[in-house]
Amino acid sequence: MASTKKTINDFPKPSRQHIINCGYPAWYPQYRKLIGRARLIPLTPGFLDYLREDGIVLPDENPNPGNRDDDSGVFSNATDDGDDDDEYEDPSYRFSDVHEAVRAAITELGGGVYPKLNWSAPKDASFILGNTLRCSCASDVYLLLKSSSFVTHDLEHAFDDTLDTPDEKGEVLQPADIEYSLVLRKWVEVIPSVEFRCFVKDRKIVCITQRDMNYYPFLTEGKDEFMALIREFFERHLKTTFADPNFAFDVYIPKTLVTDARVWLVDINPYAMRTDPLTFSWTEILNMDPNIEGFRPEFRLIGRDDPENYNFGSSQYSAHKLPKDVVDAGAAGPQSIAEFSSRWREIVEGLEDADLDDSSEEDEDSERDDGKDLVDTAGKVKVEKPTVDEEK
Ligand SMILES: Nc1ncnc2c1ncn2[C@@H]1O[C@H](COP(=O)(O)OP(=O)(O)OP(=O)(O)O)[C@@H](O)[C@H]1O
Ligand SMILES: [Mg+2]
Repeated sequence: MASTKKTINDFPKPSRQHIINCGYPAWYPQYRKLIGRARLIPLTPGFLDYLREDGIVLPDENPNPGNRDDDSGVFSNATDDGDDDDEYEDPSYRFSDVHEAVRAAITELGGGVYPKLNWSAPKDASFILGNTLRCSCASDVYLLLKSSSFVTHDLEHAFDDTLDTPDEKGEVLQPADIEYSLVLRKWVEVIPSVEFRCFVKDRKIVCITQRDMNYYPFLTEGKDEFMALIREFFERHLKTTFADPNFAFDVYIPKTLVTDARVWLVDINPYAMRTDPLTFSWTEILNMDPNIEGFRPEFRLIGRDDPENYNFGSSQYSAHKLPKDVVDAGAAGPQSIAEFSSRWREIVEGLEDADLDDSSEEDEDSERDDGKDLVDTAGKVKVEKPTVDEEK
């Protein structure tokens, strides 16, 4: 019987357990030797409330005892005008254990970390630290997490489009059952050309793609070598040990000589539409059958003439949620948060005056272009927290 081609409508919804299994806290203990140095910090209700709140008020990284209002945990505004409305309350008093753990981890990991929650890094918010995700203090971490729609997705939409059928025990996992952790990885200057995403079906690799969507001639030359390294890594470490037969994993192979190569695990992602198939489409992956005789996984690279190769110049994730001017300001180079926020205020005030019909395509998606009052009374950056109502 001829097999019928699957369409995207045939995509099976993942189980909630699968989403949990792909979360960092679920697999990190088992695979910690395969990834770079990292710390996992379980998150308390106080910290999760802080992340979920609108507005961004950051802890005082260098508390000045002179400004402290007795022992109440409330800091007075630095101005002398006696206006009580301007009181600044250091939010870290509500999650001091987490705050201390974050500070300790940053020190232990050499002073620079890359943050993420169970599934997502705040890649869409990098503009706010001058186009980097490198955090050198706890406030950097909180600023990124609170500004990111991807992180909001982890917090509020992790079980969207999942099966809510009961498991063997007759129970249905609920969002409240998710145990959140903050992952802090030691900062590494990643070479994007040697990052790969691999899709697994029935515990077999069906396809591999480069992650960075640019053309790199040396990848074509090294294709067989990379493929062999990835397959060996998979067979040895993941094939029989991961909780589910279908998933996607990301690897990083910074050395290209076989003798010197080490494959690092970067992430494990759900076999679900929320995982970006990059150079493939999900329909293609759905139609791959690793169980037919002679099946060979495809390793796909961006070619010199592929349209993706001409995307240079566009900031990644720039269209996600922000007005173009804000993204441009962030991409302009490292700036202090204070400088950036004052620049942002100018932009927002400009937007208020501008004819909104002139908004660019990027503006249309923005959930922040009416964001006002960006700097709170303590000089901290303060923005409306993004909401996510769609898959990232
Ligand atoms: N320790 C690190 N230091 C610096 N950059 C890193 C580090 N770890 C990862 N990165 C960079 O961040 C990118 C995204 O990381 P990661 O895959 O963990 O995020 P993610 O939110 O799960 O992404 P996706 O949505 O694509 O699955 C990586 O491709 C890599 O370039
Ligand atoms: Mg991922």
